[in-house]
Amino acid sequence: MLPAIHDTGTGEAVLFLHAFTLDASQWDHQVAALSDSMRCIRVDLWGCGDSPAPPQREPTLDGFATTVLDALDSRHIGRVAVVGLSMGGYLAFALWRLAPERIRALVLCNTRAGADAAGPRDDRLAMAERVEREQSVESIVEPMVARLLSPHAQAEAHIVDPVRGRIRRCTPAGIAFAQRAMAARPDSTSLLATVSVPTLVIAGTQDAIIPTAEVLAIADGIPKARFVELDCGHLSNLELPRAVSDQLASFLVPATMAP
Ligand code: MLT
Repeated sequence: MLPAIHDTGTGEAVLFLHAFTLDASQWDHQVAALSDSMRCIRVDLWGCGDSPAPPQREPTLDGFATTVLDALDSRHIGRVAVVGLSMGGYLAFALWRLAPERIRALVLCNTRAGADAAGPRDDRLAMAERVEREQSVESIVEPMVARLLSPHAQAEAHIVDPVRGRIRRCTPAGIAFAQRAMAARPDSTSLLATVSVPTLVIAGTQDAIIPTAEVLAIADGIPKARFVELDCGHLSNLELPRAVSDQLASFLVPATMAP
């Protein structure tokens, strides 16, 4: 079974990986900006966006990354630039661990390399149980909005309302899968020194989930990394869509055109 895959534009392929409680539509602005010159591939995590329910097997990000590679194979797509935000960044690390030869450039936004400490891991497992017990994601909508967006963005209906809508489109099974998979993810810090492709790392000054210091540590650990900090919260590409699209355009086009 493959997840939903959205395939827009022509040119060198770029794979977009969305954040927790969102879906591929998180990248609409970036796809509109890039799809004249690049083939933009977006995947919805199980139970999010248009993807079917999670399969009945152990929830892991490495397992989903294998499925993403299968989805690329199904479209005869070889090497890609990978853009991941937060959970999408955790998935990007999983892809690098499994198939570095498939990656020609990396963009890591508002994400971290480390695994969870015990407290946050327990919180994830508690949320997974809660949405399954309630058979609804409603109780997580406002708490997630408050964490995902800066105060300024929370006051902007054109930003916050679509975020609420995307959270509500996730199924309880999709939320539970993502939380259990993130809780089980390995520490990717030792991978950083092995990342040999051009890499752009983006942080948000007001990120309430992953502080700049943790994002900067990624850039410090990767030999060919460029670091950019933007004045926004966790969902940088939704709060400052043009700034992120411009960063991607100026980074990805030269990076993906390199031999
Ligand atoms: C995300 O935005 O993908 C998540 O908040 C990341 C996380 O929970 O660690």
